[in-house]
Amino acid sequence: EAALKSSKVIFVIGGPGSGKGTQCANIVKDYGFCHLSSGDLLRDEVKSGSERGKRLNAIMEKGDLVPLEEVLQLMKNAMVSNLTKTNCFLVDGYPRELEQGLKFEKEVAPCTNVLYFDVSDETMTSRLLERGKSSGRVDDNEVTIKKRLQTFHNQTKPVIDYYKRFGKVCQISAESGIDEVYVEVKKFMETKQW
Ligand code: AP5
Repeated sequence: EAALKSSKVIFVIGGPGSGKGTQCANIVKDYGFCHLSSGDLLRDEVKSGSERGKRLNAIMEKGDLVPLEEVLQLMKNAMVSNLTKTNCFLVDGYPRELEQGLKFEKEVAPCTNVLYFDVSDETMTSRLLERGKSSGRVDDNEVTIKKRLQTFHNQTKPVIDYYKRFGKVCQISAESGIDEVYVEVKKFMETKQW
Protein backbone atom coordinates (compact mmCIF):
# COMPACT_ATOMS: atom_id res chain seq x y z
CA GLU A 1 0.00 0.00 0.00
CA ALA A 2 2.72 2.49 0.97
CA ALA A 3 4.79 1.64 -2.12
CA LEU A 4 1.73 2.16 -4.30
CA LYS A 5 0.91 5.49 -2.69
CA SER A 6 4.40 6.83 -3.26
CA SER A 7 4.50 5.94 -6.96
CA LYS A 8 4.67 8.59 -9.69
CA VAL A 9 1.57 8.68 -11.81
CA ILE A 10 1.03 10.54 -15.06
CA PHE A 11 -2.57 10.48 -16.21
CA VAL A 12 -2.51 10.47 -20.02
CA ILE A 13 -5.70 12.03 -21.31
CA GLY A 14 -6.99 12.83 -24.78
CA GLY A 15 -9.90 12.08 -27.07
CA PRO A 16 -10.18 8.84 -29.03
CA GLY A 17 -7.32 8.64 -31.52
CA SER A 18 -5.48 11.61 -30.05
CA GLY A 19 -2.30 9.51 -29.91
CA LYS A 20 -2.17 8.51 -26.24
CA GLY A 21 -0.99 4.96 -26.91
CA THR A 22 1.48 6.01 -29.59
CA GLN A 23 3.17 8.65 -27.42
CA CYS A 24 3.18 6.41 -24.34
CA ALA A 25 5.15 3.81 -26.31
CA ASN A 26 7.74 6.52 -27.07
CA ILE A 27 7.97 7.57 -23.42
CA VAL A 28 8.46 3.95 -22.31
CA LYS A 29 11.41 3.60 -24.69
CA ASP A 30 13.19 6.72 -23.45
CA TYR A 31 12.16 6.99 -19.82
CA GLY A 32 11.32 3.46 -18.74
CA PHE A 33 7.88 4.10 -17.36
CA CYS A 34 5.33 1.31 -17.08
CA HIS A 35 2.51 1.96 -19.56
CA LEU A 36 -0.94 0.86 -18.45
CA SER A 37 -3.79 1.46 -20.87
CA SER A 38 -7.28 1.09 -19.46
CA GLY A 39 -8.60 0.27 -22.95
CA ASP A 40 -6.01 -2.51 -23.42
CA LEU A 41 -6.74 -3.96 -19.98
CA LEU A 42 -10.45 -3.97 -20.78
CA ARG A 43 -9.89 -5.55 -24.20
CA ASP A 44 -7.77 -8.30 -22.55
CA GLU A 45 -10.74 -9.05 -20.34
CA VAL A 46 -13.01 -9.18 -23.40
CA LYS A 47 -10.59 -11.57 -25.15
CA SER A 48 -10.70 -13.94 -22.19
CA GLY A 49 -14.28 -14.68 -23.21
CA SER A 50 -15.61 -14.34 -19.64
CA GLU A 51 -19.17 -13.24 -18.89
CA ARG A 52 -17.68 -10.05 -17.51
CA GLY A 53 -15.79 -9.55 -20.76
CA LYS A 54 -19.00 -9.88 -22.74
CA ARG A 55 -20.69 -7.24 -20.60
CA LEU A 56 -17.74 -4.89 -21.02
CA ASN A 57 -17.61 -5.42 -24.78
CA ALA A 58 -21.26 -4.42 -25.15
CA ILE A 59 -20.50 -1.10 -23.44
CA MET A 60 -17.28 -0.43 -25.37
CA GLU A 61 -18.99 -1.25 -28.66
CA LYS A 62 -21.34 1.67 -27.99
CA GLY A 63 -18.60 4.11 -26.98
CA ASP A 64 -19.91 4.48 -23.43
CA LEU A 65 -17.84 4.34 -20.24
CA VAL A 66 -17.65 1.05 -18.37
CA PRO A 67 -18.47 1.21 -14.64
CA LEU A 68 -15.85 2.93 -12.52
CA GLU A 69 -15.20 0.02 -10.15
CA GLU A 70 -14.42 -2.38 -12.99
CA VAL A 71 -11.77 -0.20 -14.54
CA LEU A 72 -10.31 1.07 -11.26
CA GLN A 73 -9.76 -2.48 -10.06
CA LEU A 74 -8.04 -3.48 -13.31
CA MET A 75 -5.73 -0.46 -13.13
CA LYS A 76 -4.87 -1.02 -9.49
CA ASN A 77 -4.10 -4.71 -9.95
CA ALA A 78 -1.91 -3.96 -12.96
CA MET A 79 0.03 -1.36 -10.99
CA VAL A 80 0.54 -3.68 -8.04
CA SER A 81 1.88 -6.45 -10.25
CA ASN A 82 4.39 -4.07 -11.88
CA LEU A 83 5.64 -2.42 -8.69
CA THR A 84 8.66 -4.69 -8.40
CA LYS A 85 9.89 -3.29 -11.74
CA THR A 86 9.16 0.42 -11.40
CA ASN A 87 7.07 2.93 -9.51
CA CYS A 88 6.65 5.32 -12.45
CA PHE A 89 3.38 4.79 -14.30
CA LEU A 90 1.73 6.15 -17.42
CA VAL A 91 -1.93 5.73 -16.71
CA ASP A 92 -3.40 5.96 -20.22
CA GLY A 93 -7.13 6.45 -20.78
CA TYR A 94 -7.90 6.92 -17.12
CA PRO A 95 -9.55 8.92 -15.56
CA ARG A 96 -12.36 9.52 -18.03
CA GLU A 97 -14.72 11.18 -15.57
CA LEU A 98 -13.95 13.26 -12.51
CA GLU A 99 -15.11 10.63 -10.06
CA GLN A 100 -12.56 8.17 -11.49
CA GLY A 101 -9.76 10.62 -10.78
CA LEU A 102 -10.88 11.35 -7.24
CA LYS A 103 -11.33 7.69 -6.38
CA PHE A 104 -7.96 6.75 -7.87
CA GLU A 105 -6.20 9.42 -5.84
CA LYS A 106 -7.93 8.26 -2.68
CA GLU A 107 -7.51 4.52 -3.12
CA VAL A 108 -4.42 4.07 -5.29
CA ALA A 109 -1.99 6.99 -5.55
CA PRO A 110 -1.92 10.76 -5.99
CA CYS A 111 -1.73 12.16 -9.51
CA THR A 112 1.71 13.65 -10.18
CA ASN A 113 0.88 15.21 -13.57
CA VAL A 114 -1.58 15.09 -16.41
CA LEU A 115 -0.48 14.87 -20.02
CA TYR A 116 -3.31 16.09 -22.23
CA PHE A 117 -3.22 15.59 -26.00
CA ASP A 118 -5.38 18.20 -27.65
CA VAL A 119 -6.61 17.29 -31.15
CA SER A 120 -9.60 18.38 -33.25
CA ASP A 121 -12.53 16.01 -33.66
CA GLU A 122 -11.94 15.94 -37.42
CA THR A 123 -8.35 14.76 -37.07
CA MET A 124 -9.25 12.14 -34.46
CA THR A 125 -12.07 10.83 -36.63
CA SER A 126 -9.94 10.45 -39.72
CA ARG A 127 -7.12 8.71 -37.78
CA LEU A 128 -9.55 6.22 -36.28
CA LEU A 129 -11.34 5.50 -39.55
CA GLU A 130 -7.94 4.81 -41.10
CA ARG A 131 -6.88 2.56 -38.21
CA GLY A 132 -10.32 0.82 -38.29
CA LYS A 133 -9.49 -0.69 -41.66
CA SER A 134 -6.99 -3.04 -40.04
CA SER A 135 -7.38 -2.81 -36.25
CA GLY A 136 -10.40 -5.07 -35.90
CA ARG A 137 -11.58 -2.87 -33.04
CA VAL A 138 -15.34 -2.98 -32.59
CA ASP A 139 -15.42 0.74 -31.79
CA ASP A 140 -13.49 2.08 -34.80
CA ASN A 141 -16.57 2.77 -36.95
CA GLU A 142 -18.25 6.06 -37.79
CA VAL A 143 -21.20 5.75 -35.40
CA THR A 144 -19.16 4.68 -32.37
CA ILE A 145 -16.40 7.21 -33.03
CA LYS A 146 -19.04 9.96 -32.88
CA LYS A 147 -20.24 8.63 -29.54
CA ARG A 148 -16.69 8.29 -28.18
CA LEU A 149 -16.04 11.93 -29.05
CA GLN A 150 -19.24 12.98 -27.28
CA THR A 151 -18.29 10.95 -24.22
CA PHE A 152 -14.89 12.64 -24.23
CA HIS A 153 -16.31 16.17 -24.44
CA ASN A 154 -19.07 15.63 -21.88
CA GLN A 155 -17.39 13.43 -19.32
CA THR A 156 -13.63 13.69 -19.69
CA LYS A 157 -13.09 17.39 -20.41
CA PRO A 158 -14.17 18.30 -16.84
CA VAL A 159 -11.32 16.12 -15.56
CA ILE A 160 -8.83 18.28 -17.45
CA ASP A 161 -10.39 21.47 -16.09
CA TYR A 162 -10.21 20.07 -12.58
CA TYR A 163 -6.48 19.24 -12.73
CA LYS A 164 -5.72 22.56 -14.44
CA ARG A 165 -6.83 24.24 -11.23
CA PHE A 166 -3.92 22.51 -9.48
CA GLY A 167 -1.44 23.42 -12.22
CA LYS A 168 -0.86 19.76 -13.02
CA VAL A 169 -1.80 19.72 -16.70
CA CYS A 170 0.70 19.76 -19.53
CA GLN A 171 -1.40 20.42 -22.64
CA ILE A 172 0.16 19.45 -25.95
CA SER A 173 -1.30 20.08 -29.37
CA ALA A 174 -1.21 16.70 -31.08
CA GLU A 175 -2.46 17.74 -34.52
CA SER A 176 0.93 17.37 -36.17
CA GLY A 177 2.91 14.22 -36.94
CA ILE A 178 3.96 11.64 -34.35
CA ASP A 179 7.59 12.80 -34.19
CA GLU A 180 6.70 16.49 -33.88
CA VAL A 181 4.30 15.73 -31.05
CA TYR A 182 6.96 13.68 -29.31
CA VAL A 183 9.36 16.63 -29.35
CA GLU A 184 6.86 18.46 -27.14
CA VAL A 185 6.34 15.41 -24.94
CA LYS A 186 10.08 15.16 -24.38
CA LYS A 187 10.25 18.82 -23.36
CA PHE A 188 7.69 18.07 -20.67
CA MET A 189 9.45 14.88 -19.53
CA GLU A 190 12.78 16.71 -19.28
CA THR A 191 11.37 19.37 -16.93
CA LYS A 192 10.93 16.75 -14.21
CA GLN A 193 13.11 14.53 -12.09
CA TRP A 194 11.39 11.16 -12.34
P1 AP5 B 1 -9.37 3.26 -25.32
O1 AP5 B 1 -8.78 1.99 -25.76
O2 AP5 B 1 -8.69 4.06 -24.27
O3 AP5 B 1 -9.63 4.10 -26.63
P2 AP5 B 1 -9.62 5.65 -26.93
O4 AP5 B 1 -9.49 6.57 -25.79
O5 AP5 B 1 -10.78 5.85 -27.79
O6 AP5 B 1 -8.26 5.86 -27.62
P3 AP5 B 1 -7.54 4.98 -28.67
O7 AP5 B 1 -6.77 3.88 -28.01
O8 AP5 B 1 -8.46 4.56 -29.73
O9 AP5 B 1 -6.56 6.06 -29.27
P4 AP5 B 1 -5.23 6.72 -28.70
O10 AP5 B 1 -5.47 8.08 -28.18
O11 AP5 B 1 -4.46 5.78 -27.83
O12 AP5 B 1 -4.49 6.90 -30.08
P5 AP5 B 1 -3.44 5.93 -30.79
O13 AP5 B 1 -2.07 6.21 -30.29
O14 AP5 B 1 -3.94 4.54 -30.78
O15 AP5 B 1 -10.87 2.99 -24.80
C1 AP5 B 1 -11.79 2.22 -25.53
C2 AP5 B 1 -13.09 2.08 -24.74
O16 AP5 B 1 -12.84 1.40 -23.49
C3 AP5 B 1 -13.77 3.38 -24.30
O17 AP5 B 1 -14.57 3.92 -25.34
C4 AP5 B 1 -14.59 2.92 -23.10
O18 AP5 B 1 -15.74 2.22 -23.52
C5 AP5 B 1 -13.67 1.92 -22.44
N1 AP5 B 1 -12.80 2.56 -21.45
C6 AP5 B 1 -11.45 2.74 -21.53
N2 AP5 B 1 -10.98 3.38 -20.44
C7 AP5 B 1 -12.05 3.60 -19.65
C8 AP5 B 1 -12.21 4.23 -18.38
N3 AP5 B 1 -11.17 4.80 -17.74
N4 AP5 B 1 -13.46 4.29 -17.87
C9 AP5 B 1 -14.50 3.76 -18.51
N5 AP5 B 1 -14.43 3.15 -19.71
C10 AP5 B 1 -13.21 3.08 -20.27
O19 AP5 B 1 -3.53 6.52 -32.27
C11 AP5 B 1 -4.66 6.34 -33.07
C12 AP5 B 1 -4.24 6.20 -34.54
O20 AP5 B 1 -3.69 7.42 -35.01
C13 AP5 B 1 -3.15 5.16 -34.76
O21 AP5 B 1 -3.39 4.52 -35.98
C14 AP5 B 1 -1.85 5.98 -34.79
O22 AP5 B 1 -0.86 5.39 -35.56
C15 AP5 B 1 -2.34 7.28 -35.40
N6 AP5 B 1 -1.63 8.44 -34.87
C16 AP5 B 1 -1.33 8.72 -33.56
N7 AP5 B 1 -0.72 9.89 -33.45
C17 AP5 B 1 -0.65 10.41 -34.70
C18 AP5 B 1 -0.12 11.63 -35.24
N8 AP5 B 1 0.45 12.56 -34.45
N9 AP5 B 1 -0.23 11.85 -36.55
C19 AP5 B 1 -0.80 10.91 -37.36
N10 AP5 B 1 -1.30 9.73 -36.93
C20 AP5 B 1 -1.24 9.49 -35.60
